[in-house]
Amino acid sequence: MTLRGRDFVSMDDLSPEEVRFVLDTAVDLKRRSKAGDRPPLLAGRVLAMIFEKPSLRTRVTFETGMWELGGHAIYLAPQDIQLGARESVPDVARNLERWVQGIMARTFAHRTVQLLAEHARVPVINGLSDVEHPCQTLGDLLTIRERFGHLDGLRVAWVGDGNNVCHSLLLGAAKVGMHMAVATPPRYAPEPAIVARAREIASTAGSRIEVGTDARAAARGADVIYTDVWVSMGQEAERDAKIKAFSEFQVNAALVSQAASRAVVLHCLPAHRGEEITDEVLDGPQSLVLDQAENRLHAQKALLSLIL
Ligand code: CP
Ligand code: NVA
Repeated sequence: MTLRGRDFVSMDDLSPEEVRFVLDTAVDLKRRSKAGDRPPLLAGRVLAMIFEKPSLRTRVTFETGMWELGGHAIYLAPQDIQLGARESVPDVARNLERWVQGIMARTFAHRTVQLLAEHARVPVINGLSDVEHPCQTLGDLLTIRERFGHLDGLRVAWVGDGNNVCHSLLLGAAKVGMHMAVATPPRYAPEPAIVARAREIASTAGSRIEVGTDARAAARGADVIYTDVWVSMGQEAERDAKIKAFSEFQVNAALVSQAASRAVVLHCLPAHRGEEITDEVLDGPQSLVLDQAENRLHAQKALLSLIL
């Protein structure tokens, strides 16, 4: 199987077999890295990293990942290239492909990452857009698989906003045969087209995708409870309305008690403590959020080593 030259704009860009291949590669690279073996699989290769929004995890894991693979990463801050303002997105893509072997982009509009992918002949990776965060899902699947030893048949509860992270997880869960129950306030459900696509994938994998408004019902019996901030980057003007709408969607000890006793709690981070998740849960024994953050590194090293 080869993924060389492929874009990763959506979680739907990888088939179920390819998702498993990336995860298997990540497990191998992680094990080797812990043993002090860091093969220079990307020696001489360079990744340009475009950021329209802030980042801790995505920037550090991509930059460290490239370095550990023997390559190099260039951080381009929002003010550096002023994507679409100083220069059009296609023009940026056509320049970058002359110098670097891959582009990672964190954008506001999903269309911007798609445009980069359409106009650059080097692989383009979505490092979060307003619609998806597929690299997060790869790290999440790795974390869940490490804990439970498998993915198929597990039950994931998403509680909170039906946002970019939720969208990629819906597609990813469906591909690996996990059941996913999403609970959001009525106005903040995930995009119907993504839910429909996840259900289409799930129907062949034999898993269920449910979308509703009852956080307790979603959490009941779950193996994984996942939440994310109520106010995503770029939505700051909606903050007051969202805080009111989400008051019943906090991941706290009472909600976690609905889940299976072996359940783990995930959060892509950054967390807004006391809003979508309590300190008690975030810092508690069921929380895997820091393993999850670490696994961004291993999952993305696998992805980079396979596509660049
Ligand atoms: N989870 C995640 O993508 O974190 P950053 O926004 O810090 O990159
Ligand atoms: N949904 C969040 C995720 C941050 C990693 C956002 O888009 O801001």
